[in-house]
Amino acid sequence: MAADTGSPHPFVRYRWLLDSYRKAISRGWTDGDFVALVLRLDEAVSGVEGHGFYITPLSRQSGLAAGLELDSTYLWVKDETGNVAGSHKARHLFGVLLHLAVDEEDGRNELGIASCGNAALAAAVVARAVERPLRVFIPTWADPQVVERLEALGAHVEVSERNPKEKGDPTFLRFQESVARGLTPFSVQGPITATTLDGGRTIGWELAEQLALARVSGPLRLFVQVGGGALAASVWSGLAGGIREQWLSVDPILHTVQTEAVAPLNRAWRRLLALEGEAMEAARMTPDLYMWPWEEVGTSAASGILDDVTYDWLPVMEAMLDSGGRAQVVSEEMILRANELGRSATGIDVDHTGTAGLAGLLDSEVASSISRHEHVVVLFTGRRRA
Ligand SMILES: Cc1ncc(COP(=O)(O)O)c(C=O)c1O
Repeated sequence: MAADTGSPHPFVRYRWLLDSYRKAISRGWTDGDFVALVLRLDEAVSGVEGHGFYITPLSRQSGLAAGLELDSTYLWVKDETGNVAGSHKARHLFGVLLHLAVDEEDGRNELGIASCGNAALAAAVVARAVERPLRVFIPTWADPQVVERLEALGAHVEVSERNPKEKGDPTFLRFQESVARGLTPFSVQGPITATTLDGGRTIGWELAEQLALARVSGPLRLFVQVGGGALAASVWSGLAGGIREQWLSVDPILHTVQTEAVAPLNRAWRRLLALEGEAMEAARMTPDLYMWPWEEVGTSAASGILDDVTYDWLPVMEAMLDSGGRAQVVSEEMILRANELGRSATGIDVDHTGTAGLAGLLDSEVASSISRHEHVVVLFTGRRRA
């Protein structure tokens, strides 16, 4: 089915493709019921944030392409920095909220998330909009400005101290214990909140429609920065959906980008490529042989992608293997340079995590493999905070 081109609201425009919509219809909701729900929740988000969801801009950035010494001048930037709470994360959580509403859960249970960055801020805005209590598990080193904003939005902030006897991220451990005691997971990782990829796909559907409108066809490289992996998994799924729906005809290749500080997806990718047999079968049968927590998590200016595990790695790995893409690792110097170039060439006030995908194009081997005619897409995902 074609997109509902009458609506500028992504969750209305592409509703036919949302799992929450399909579930609602199968339970006897009308199309109008679902649209009314989206618009009511969006208005509530507007009440907190000053604006709701909209189709974020995609622009061709030839100046940035020149700065990167790419042969191709077809470099496209999708700008999520003006989205609700300053990043793409609220798309995931608005999608989860739609599922909770369709499931008709009683709406009173406390929601919870372990994060101290964009995901926590997005969760706090969305939860506040529907007046749901939210518990946010943060580490001791969380940015005081973010904590202040979370508290101003009414979130209950719980600081998790590291215990030397425990393995793994203490915020995540405390969050999991609370979920076991009944907290409703409201996170941006598919294995923990199964419905979180649904809303994230709106980025991919928008991208598909915008590229089609710009008459883009043929080979296309998509560079996505990866932390927990939900962003890459959902954008890829949305773009593939747009191709399946025949909105556009492109041949996309997925490049993922992690920093030297933490690169579990690249480790898994290298191990799988070294196998003789079918890689995805091995990944699904024995995932622990390929994905496990990164032992020595370093630091990076791209602090939003320092997840020790790539939670949504399976669909991302499959997309890279099927499309002939790769799991890149970039140095801190490339992270810093990509941000400088990205900001100065586009004027977008994007943070280092937000330009980390662009850093993948600073790898000269990758850049030189891209032909003059290929289209390249990067996502600027997070707004810089002063
Ligand atoms: C601005 C920004 N971009 C990208 C990402 C990566 O998304 P994911 O964790 O889904 O891979 C994050 C995650 O925190 C982020 O804050």
